[in-house]
Amino acid sequence: MTVTPALEADVLRRQDPELAEVLLGERERQATTLQLIAAENFMSPAVLAALGSPLANKYAEGYPGNRHHGGCEIVDVAERLAVERAQALFGAEHANVQAHSGSSAVLAAYAALLRPGDTVLALGLPYGGHLTHGSPVNFSGRWFDFVGYGVDAESGLIDHEQVRALARAHRPKAIVCGSISYPRHIDYAFFREVADDVGAYLIADAAHPMGLIAGGAAPSPVPYADIVCATTHKVLRGPRGGMLLCGAELAERVDRAVFPFTQGGAQMHTIAAKAVAFGEAATPAFAAYAHQVVTNARALAAALAAEGLTVTTGGTDTHLITADPAPLGVDGRTARGRLAAAGLVLDCCALPHDDDRGLRLGTAAVTTQGMGAREMTLVAGLLASVLRGGTDAARAREDVRELVAAFPPYPR
Ligand SMILES: Cc1ncc(COP(=O)(O)O)c(C=O)c1O
Repeated sequence: MTVTPALEADVLRRQDPELAEVLLGERERQATTLQLIAAENFMSPAVLAALGSPLANKYAEGYPGNRHHGGCEIVDVAERLAVERAQALFGAEHANVQAHSGSSAVLAAYAALLRPGDTVLALGLPYGGHLTHGSPVNFSGRWFDFVGYGVDAESGLIDHEQVRALARAHRPKAIVCGSISYPRHIDYAFFREVADDVGAYLIADAAHPMGLIAGGAAPSPVPYADIVCATTHKVLRGPRGGMLLCGAELAERVDRAVFPFTQGGAQMHTIAAKAVAFGEAATPAFAAYAHQVVTNARALAAALAAEGLTVTTGGTDTHLITADPAPLGVDGRTARGRLAAAGLVLDCCALPHDDDRGLRLGTAAVTTQGMGAREMTLVAGLLASVLRGGTDAARAREDVRELVAAFPPYPR
């Protein structure tokens, strides 16, 4: 399979060897280390082909059939396909596929529903809220008045009673549910009920679970939320980008919030790649993949717990695991560095029970590579051995290289 056609054809190498080396180096890094970052995945060669296509040359401000530029008749087909496929995949009345990223999708959702100064209730950042959920260094924290709910310190589960109490006390204009690190399913019906109770909009930021939802491996927020925001590049395995889903009554507001309110010209190559990814996600093979992602995450969580790490909430319902490596004598930040040196690439994250940083891992990428429960046990053993100092970095790197060699992300 051709991954980067320009490289295969030697075009880039001949014209710009310096940059070609960077691309080859990154391809090698991805193929020889373990990608355990919960937000990452390997796009298919077909999605990559759409991304690297001449559609990237096209300017297309506006929407299909109503563009500010000429010559859009072909890219219009790509966008219509992406929209129709997204609507069918998620059972939504309306889809906007132009958002450049997950953050752009959230910005557009706020723009569609809120005015600066409005109160918004969202998961607090120390508990797994995203930057766009009210961080002071983000537009959201500066333009809106965010109130944060949390998770129970012991169980790590969303504190539903606190959500209800804060909603009643602050009467927010919108409630946001969704997280960068919550490993359990979100109870969208509960959030809908609270939003209705206080007259708030419900925004589901499903950036992480959207691929699981597509594959039927996680509950869908579509029947409950006024607007669903998502990324297309995590478990969903599409190009780096965002999307919004909503009912017909909000369609025009959402579209106008994306363009012309917060974005300019749509990225037609990315939209075409989203269409390809939605097509893939509608297949039985993708449903099997999504379920395997969860099976693998559960196996990895159980194996990490058996190795002595404290797994938040005691496990996972999704692709995502957060764990405290402290019982192995190391904090999250030190652990991430040690593991990176050994070729296990993952993130730090906040933990519910104190200020220390834990580890966040996901199984989307390794499952795309074809790994299963056996490999998850190997990965957990290797990870714990590196953290305990039982295996030095060089030795572990060799073990990782050997393991991933059997599961190349892009077989030649
Ligand atoms: C819950 C949530 N919202 C929004 C985003 C933002 O996505 P992006 O990085 O594409 O802007 C992320 C990214 O990880 C996320 O997890």
